[in-house]
Amino acid sequence: VLGPVTDLEVVNKVIAPDGYSRSTVLAGGTFPGPLIAAQKGDQFRINVINRLNDTSMNTTTSIHWHGIFQHQSNWADGTAFVTQCPIQPNGSFLHSFVVNEQAGTFWYHSHLSAQYCDGLRGPLVIYDPNDPYAHMYDVDDESTVIVLSDWYHPLSPQLYTGPFNPDSTLINGLGRYPNGTASPLAVVNVTQGKRYRFRIVGASCDPWFNFTIDGHPMTIIEADGNLVEPVVVDSIPVYAGQRYSVVITANQSVGNYWIRALSNHPNQTFEGGQSSAIFRYEGAPDQDPTTQHGPYILPFDESALHPIHKAGAPGIPQPGKADININLIPGLRGGQAQYTINNVSFVDPSLPVLLQILSGAVHPSQLLPNGSVYVLPFNKTVEISMPATDLTPGGALGGPHAMHLHGHAFDVIRVAGNGSYNFVNPVRRDTVSLGLQATNDNVTIRFVTDNPGPWFFHCHNDWHLHNGFAVVMAEAPSEAAIQESKLAPTAWWQLCNATQHN
Ligand code: C2O
Repeated sequence: VLGPVTDLEVVNKVIAPDGYSRSTVLAGGTFPGPLIAAQKGDQFRINVINRLNDTSMNTTTSIHWHGIFQHQSNWADGTAFVTQCPIQPNGSFLHSFVVNEQAGTFWYHSHLSAQYCDGLRGPLVIYDPNDPYAHMYDVDDESTVIVLSDWYHPLSPQLYTGPFNPDSTLINGLGRYPNGTASPLAVVNVTQGKRYRFRIVGASCDPWFNFTIDGHPMTIIEADGNLVEPVVVDSIPVYAGQRYSVVITANQSVGNYWIRALSNHPNQTFEGGQSSAIFRYEGAPDQDPTTQHGPYILPFDESALHPIHKAGAPGIPQPGKADININLIPGLRGGQAQYTINNVSFVDPSLPVLLQILSGAVHPSQLLPNGSVYVLPFNKTVEISMPATDLTPGGALGGPHAMHLHGHAFDVIRVAGNGSYNFVNPVRRDTVSLGLQATNDNVTIRFVTDNPGPWFFHCHNDWHLHNGFAVVMAEAPSEAAIQESKLAPTAWWQLCNATQHN
């Protein structure tokens, strides 16, 4: 049974989330876009309608549902040039998919060029009414979603070649910039004595944020849509694309406390309420907090995150002993601000990879863009390792980079900042930081190719993606073609529908 269709309009609008007015690209006319909430098992029917007309930015678009597996609905992934053509102005694309394996915190964003830096990003939460682990975190309220984003005063086309310096940090769409007005900040209201689940969404285009709440440690219970055994920390690094759920007890005296999300960009500070929001107890005055941050004594350690489902990584528990082992080496093409993976920079193909597959291409040599498409056989364990490349002799690479794989969550068998491998209880997530070259990081992930279709694998720094930091994992292309032909025959026509009508 198909659910009702919900329209999601993509529009241009002038907004001033930090007090500075600029034209933007928004989902539903707000920043962040509207919260899309659903329950495990729900059928999504979202019709994305392109109403863009500001030609100083991209006027085509697409929307990707970050972290959703799209099992048997690869065509609905929303990835321009990989699973569909961009949606043309006044065109639309109906995304129809079922989320029956997943619950937790996700988000959606434009997947065209660096368009989400112009605004098109919003939260997506899947609730599980029958969550078998609900007793473990037993909260009074789980309605709070905290969207962290960087914000730029120039429009994205002016920033394509860098430098990628954000003007401000927005928390739930509000922030302040240096020497700007003290514009309103986001307020999270709490009641003394109650326990809360906060969902934190790293909707960044570039920086990572160090997330803290003055005076309130946080218990992490979810990473990227996967429940983890509870770990108490007082700070969390949130990389572009990552999400966390934390449990917080409002057990301090009634007052205002800073929520802080300091980015790794040197021009960002806490001065005058920048990079901040307000954690406000019921009964506290409507004022900026005066609380101090730190000392931080419960540091975050990614290797201490363990899945609540005691799954363990697939395959033989030794590095390089999966069925398929791939090393991907990031690089930068001298002087051109062009990123590479194994010396190839991703260039948008004119025909989306999925349509190439549906037209019969199955071998790497047949699939475009040349050298960027990796063909993976069906039902095998794949291991991908990537060294950190934060610096090169020629200049900065802008790391640490956060790599995201579509269509899967993966086991991080070697996290950044820890040289050992964990095959027993590695964290499972969909976006991972590659860490720093200085610590010899060689982040390694594993997953099973049980989801046919071409899946983008890329740096979630949207500027880096725009500049070629991506590959496509073409998973079981023959099976994908059969699956798509059986399950979505009526959907094919729309993949490049707008192009046909040009
Ligand atoms: Cu969050 Cu390729 O996407």
